Amino acid sequence: MKQHFPIFENNPELVYLDSAATTQKPKQVIDAITSFYEKENANIHRGLYGLSIEATKKYEEARKIIADFINADENEIIFTSGTTHAINMLVYTIDSLTWTEKGKGKNEIVLSEMEHHSNLVPWQQLAKHFGYKLKFIPITDNFELDHNKAREIITDKTAILSITHTSNALGTINNAKELINLAKQKNPDVITIVDAAQSVPHIKIDVKELDCDFLAFSGHKLYGPMGIGILYGKKEVLDKLRPFHFGGDMIKSVTLEASEFQPVPNRFEAGTQNIASVIALGEAIRFINRIGLSKIQDHEKQLKKYALTKLKTIKNIDIYHSSNTDNTSSIISFNLKGIHSHDLASLLNDYNIAIRAGHHCCMPLMSALNITGTARISFGIYNTKEDIDKLCDALIKIQEVFNK
Ligand SMILES: Cc1ncc(COP(=O)(O)O)c(C=O)c1O
Repeated sequence: MKQHFPIFENNPELVYLDSAATTQKPKQVIDAITSFYEKENANIHRGLYGLSIEATKKYEEARKIIADFINADENEIIFTSGTTHAINMLVYTIDSLTWTEKGKGKNEIVLSEMEHHSNLVPWQQLAKHFGYKLKFIPITDNFELDHNKAREIITDKTAILSITHTSNALGTINNAKELINLAKQKNPDVITIVDAAQSVPHIKIDVKELDCDFLAFSGHKLYGPMGIGILYGKKEVLDKLRPFHFGGDMIKSVTLEASEFQPVPNRFEAGTQNIASVIALGEAIRFINRIGLSKIQDHEKQLKKYALTKLKTIKNIDIYHSSNTDNTSSIISFNLKGIHSHDLASLLNDYNIAIRAGHHCCMPLMSALNITGTARISFGIYNTKEDIDKLCDALIKIQEVFNK
């Protein structure tokens, strides 16, 4: 697989174990961006000349590819700059869906203890300024969400449930469907949101099966470019959602006094979009489809199993990973006793091994685990058992130096 990714040709010694932060980009995706700017560059939707018509066609084709990838309809896909933007967009507009509910005393927002700050800080702001109450589903000793507690925490007052599908710090894949069902049983009008930044690149997502109202993910974690992401919304819910940005391209007609907006999804895409990145994200999904997501998943599962087995042989290691490995992604967090995760990551850099260290934008989770951070490895389709061997050899050497 490495041959499809120019970064490895340019950095032959690189052992890249940080795909949860961002994946490397296949040549096909890089070429799509270059080709757009070299041969096809034009703004979309408004042009009546060939280049603009072609750019519009490719932009809308990408929307269709992305929609098919998660079993959504095309008009349910909104382009954003990433997961963070998608969730913020909801936080700024969700009152159009929940305000009446709040009037009826349904004023609780349920999140979990393992949220990325992107799915926590925006909701804190909403709670602070609009009087919502935040509640959190805790984690068990096995690094999973506690569904027994969830049954108490989610009530008929729950207006919003926003949950990470896969934890970026622990790799736990949460049973989002069960939590969504639970919330809908307690309050049929609840708005449910899935942060799928870490799940879309690794497992088959079917939004119809999940039955969530919204789902957010980022292109750059999906072998696509940076600066592009998706907010999926159920059509009937999007129809009721207030637009977030106002301006050109999202309108049907404008007078000095008022404007009529385009139907969804265009009413949520004001101004010039990141057209090249949209097209390149479509190309990234073509790349994944050609290999097959289930093949990617199998490969990553084997690597995870191999890595867990090898890491467990290292002395003085704490691994923060559920024993229920069928429900975990290819993300493994650990600490070597007596070595700060930042020191470990810096020392691994001397071996050309790229890992992430620290709180992983999950400070409350780190507090719940009573640690300040972890070292985290995460895989993509280009990783091999050899990468893991190199990591484990380096970890042992680092321990030897530290223990001298
Ligand atoms: C679970 C999760 N949610 C949200 C985000 C934020 O994604 P982005 O920075 O692409 O907006 C990340 C990024 O690491 C993540 O892992």
